[in-house]
Amino acid sequence: MALSDFLAQLEQLAVEAQAAFDSAADSDALEAARIDFVGAKQGRLKAAQKGMGQVDGPDKPAAGKKFNEVKQAVEAAFEAAKQRLSDGAATQASAQRFDPTLPGHLPRVGHTHPITQTIADMKEIMGRLGFAAVEGPEIEDEWHNFEALNIPLVHPARDPLDNFYLAAAQAGGNDTLLLRSQTSTVQIRVMEQTPPPVRIISLGRVYRPDTADDTHYPMFHQIEGLLVAPGVTMADLKSVLRMFCQSYFGEQDVHIRFRPSFFPFTEPSVEVDMSWQAGWMEMGGAGMVDPNVLRAVGYDADEVTGFAFGLGVERICMRRHGITDIRNLYTNDVRFLEQF
Ligand code: PHE
Repeated sequence: MALSDFLAQLEQLAVEAQAAFDSAADSDALEAARIDFVGAKQGRLKAAQKGMGQVDGPDKPAAGKKFNEVKQAVEAAFEAAKQRLSDGAATQASAQRFDPTLPGHLPRVGHTHPITQTIADMKEIMGRLGFAAVEGPEIEDEWHNFEALNIPLVHPARDPLDNFYLAAAQAGGNDTLLLRSQTSTVQIRVMEQTPPPVRIISLGRVYRPDTADDTHYPMFHQIEGLLVAPGVTMADLKSVLRMFCQSYFGEQDVHIRFRPSFFPFTEPSVEVDMSWQAGWMEMGGAGMVDPNVLRAVGYDADEVTGFAFGLGVERICMRRHGITDIRNLYTNDVRFLEQF
């Protein structure tokens, strides 16, 4: 065989081997191509090596040299293809990796505000005692905030210095409106809508023009409770408050103390204290619903009696968590809020 023919055959083999290895899409295809070209028995390189015997004697060294070059090139092409496939497999495997031993929870992102938590707890506890949670508006008229609660026009509680009155004439009416100063407004709204018996709580914001200090803030929250039915007494009030405190503070040895007080809409009226560590903690006001209030909403004051209470949500929340400044609750400092 002429040397030129032999060299041409080798070139052709090199080109085809390169193409076969490059196009192998997986390890099976690559293995088939390897057997085809570099297989020890029937591979095409082997066949070419045998063909060298037919090259004319003086041309043999040149043929051998070329053969070795092609052999090395084909083997290098095979190794490159092998590497390409194994790199691809590794990338794919790591993309699909899923570690089932990782813990099934994420670090907590975001927190419920402590007041929101307290309100949810209170609703839950009072719900178990049979009190339904209702809402009332934060912008109120004088009837619901004062008049129906037995607070007449001349009463000092209506002083503009003690209330956030809003611009008098709103579209369509001359009613004076204000930001409610107490959640007792909701007592009236509920009783106007519902015949007795009623058993509700209402939780929400109230507004008073107080200067902010460690225990005062111009906006705070109250929990209002109201139970009206035949035969309700102060003893019922005391037991409900006691059960509420036992649940909320998680203590069994809780005592409720009543101190005489005055509210226009309850008679008798009391300040409520709860035993706390070595002393007493003031929680808010309460009393038996004044017959004037029952009459103002059209109830028969000879048929039903009721108790009402209004407690400070911030104060109760602060006691439970050992917060000493109410302003911490409203400055939105993440370092503070993250603790709850
Ligand atoms: N509304 C009263 C206050 O804001 C609290 C209260 C509620 C008192 C219900 C008696 C009955 O101080």
